[in-house]
Amino acid sequence: MRFYIDSADRSRIESLMKTGVFSGVTTNPLILRRDGMRMSELPDFTKIMFGLGAGEVFLQSWGDCKEALCANGRWLASIGKRVVVKMPATREGLAAASALSTEGVSTCITAVFAPFQALLAAASGASFVAPYLGRMNDAGRDGHAMVAEMSEALRNAQRPCEILAASIRTPDDVGRLARNGVRRITLPPALAERLFDEQLTREAATAFEEAATEVLEG
Ligand code: E4P
Repeated sequence: MRFYIDSADRSRIESLMKTGVFSGVTTNPLILRRDGMRMSELPDFTKIMFGLGAGEVFLQSWGDCKEALCANGRWLASIGKRVVVKMPATREGLAAASALSTEGVSTCITAVFAPFQALLAAASGASFVAPYLGRMNDAGRDGHAMVAEMSEALRNAQRPCEILAASIRTPDDVGRLARNGVRRITLPPALAERLFDEQLTREAATAFEEAATEVLEG
């Protein structure tokens, strides 16, 4: 499993990246607004993320038509070779992803809620597809079953397209997604922190330290 941090909060990302278990960072315009970042700051932010060891940084394009999504996507892609440009799974977003894919830009179709959208993402040439697990559950769908179906469907797709699961809400989602064939997930910082806070592990670690101190002194 490759773990990503769904955030534009530099200090929280930095602290998590230092653990060495995260492969990169994902953002979207809602995250930028929440974390107080302007689009114009994305080049500096992205370079800092690469400096922290991010393998990929996912940046989302914007615009009300294919042309605008493409133009903004090209600008995002120009920030760095390992930038993946996210596009929403709309008609315009898929068309823009298709155009950018033919130009060699790595893309991710995001805000995906149904298996047929995952197949459209693959058909557009996108390298990644981001299903929103929690929001599927919020909408009364069985998110895990949907993601399992996407995973199965993509195995037979005409082009390789990997799932990057998003909108993850609980630590238990991580294992279930892995069982359903998902190999990449993005987590909000608060949830990412919870993965390091397993009560039984804390108790065991405390006991190890106590014993270590005694045998050191003995
Ligand atoms: C992904 O791009 C989204 O930021 C995110 O995963 C949405 O999560 P939420 O449904 O918990 O807000």
